[in-house]
Amino acid sequence: MDQIRIKGGHRLEGRIPISGAKNAALPLLAASLLTDAPLTLSNVPYLADIATMLSLLEQVGVLVDVAAAPSGEAGRVVQLTASRLSSLTAPYELVRKMRASVLVLGPLLARAGEAKVSLPGGCAIGSRPVDLHLMALRNMGAVIDLDNGYIHARAPKGLQGGEVVFPLVTVTGTENAMMAATLAKGETVLINAAREPEVVDLAHCLVSMGAEIDGIGSDRLRIKGKDKLHAASHRVVADRIEAGTFAMAAGITGGSLELIGARLAHLNSVAHILAAAGFVLTETSDGILAERVGPLCGVDIMTEPYPGFPTDLQAQMMALMTVASGASMITETIFENRFMHVPELQRMGANISVHKASAIVRGVPSLRGAQVMATDLRASVSLVLAGLVAEGETVLNRVYHLDRGYERLEEKLAACSADIERVKAAA
Ligand code: EPZ
Repeated sequence: MDQIRIKGGHRLEGRIPISGAKNAALPLLAASLLTDAPLTLSNVPYLADIATMLSLLEQVGVLVDVAAAPSGEAGRVVQLTASRLSSLTAPYELVRKMRASVLVLGPLLARAGEAKVSLPGGCAIGSRPVDLHLMALRNMGAVIDLDNGYIHARAPKGLQGGEVVFPLVTVTGTENAMMAATLAKGETVLINAAREPEVVDLAHCLVSMGAEIDGIGSDRLRIKGKDKLHAASHRVVADRIEAGTFAMAAGITGGSLELIGARLAHLNSVAHILAAAGFVLTETSDGILAERVGPLCGVDIMTEPYPGFPTDLQAQMMALMTVASGASMITETIFENRFMHVPELQRMGANISVHKASAIVRGVPSLRGAQVMATDLRASVSLVLAGLVAEGETVLNRVYHLDRGYERLEEKLAACSADIERVKAAA
């Protein structure tokens, strides 16, 4: 397996292009199932999870055409045409690799009246059930059975509009329900819907395909079902989590980075907290400038659904706080096991104590490089951030976790003076 080697101590300076958001691209790809006409997506990032979703879509019969972006443009252009579906099953071997495969459930059911999707199973960061996805579809008239580890959903007469009250905010649950509702008969109301920018991006794409959705960006979505959706083109929104990650790379190294293509509006809660921690995010004509303006100091954070502090930046923030002056309390409210980066950071000399859903981080003067193990996507990148500031060399193993969510991470950081390289595993 490849490794990433980092020699710490270099201030990061420069400009980093921010890719299209993984968590927007995944539901957008699934939305192609809702129509027999072509859906063309641009700014699609090169990521392992995207490749997994594309192979799943091809397995059910979607024609996928991937082209390089026009010169000077980032990402790829992907054209998807689900003119006829050859299968209605998302198999276990693909779903277990990427739980976001469950996003084909709503569109397949709405388009074809039936879908068989493997239950995602557990995940490193938590049990992550999909009961709310199923509740939403049942409220639209679906008959759903669970057998042999598969969700078998049927709506032979099509889905009916209904009211769905989510007891807690679920991003992909909202996305599955919203996509299904676009082809249901009548009107569907989603209450306590997720408001993440990726959900908004999907809603905008669905509207461009002919869907009728009111309340976009709010926690109450009203969707009037249509008989069919039509062709559309859509550009994937910039990845606010990648942007937040690189902003923290600037913070931890005392440098300054311009994040090209990022939108400050999508990082408001993060910006306020980072300003209190000693570095400032400001809007520029090209994106966001992240720069240290004083000593790093400990701040408290609690993860919450958007527009609160995102759970996907919690591990990165913890890495930052390990070398801040003072203490920081970090509370993870979204997932039950998202502190797996803690023991690895402790091996680098961090002073962290965890009590249930909260971690107290007491800043230390410096970290020391070590061999560390990646466990999940965001925990992995927090170890890269720690390696950027640690004395000596840090070697990160199992970098496939990183490749799921970060495009060319080491290239982007090396271009801004980081001493970082990928070491290919011996063949
Ligand atoms: C999405 O996951 C993201 N993934 C996650 O990003 C992100 O961490 C998460 O939202 C929270 O923002 C994609 O968008 C592909 P949830 P999702 O449903 O939709 C519970 C990354 O690193 N829940 O919003 O699966 C669940 O257990 C990934 O890019 C139920 O109980 O998360 C969790 O505690 C990691 N029943 C909470 O809700 C359900 O049916 C929020 O989960 C669904 C969720």
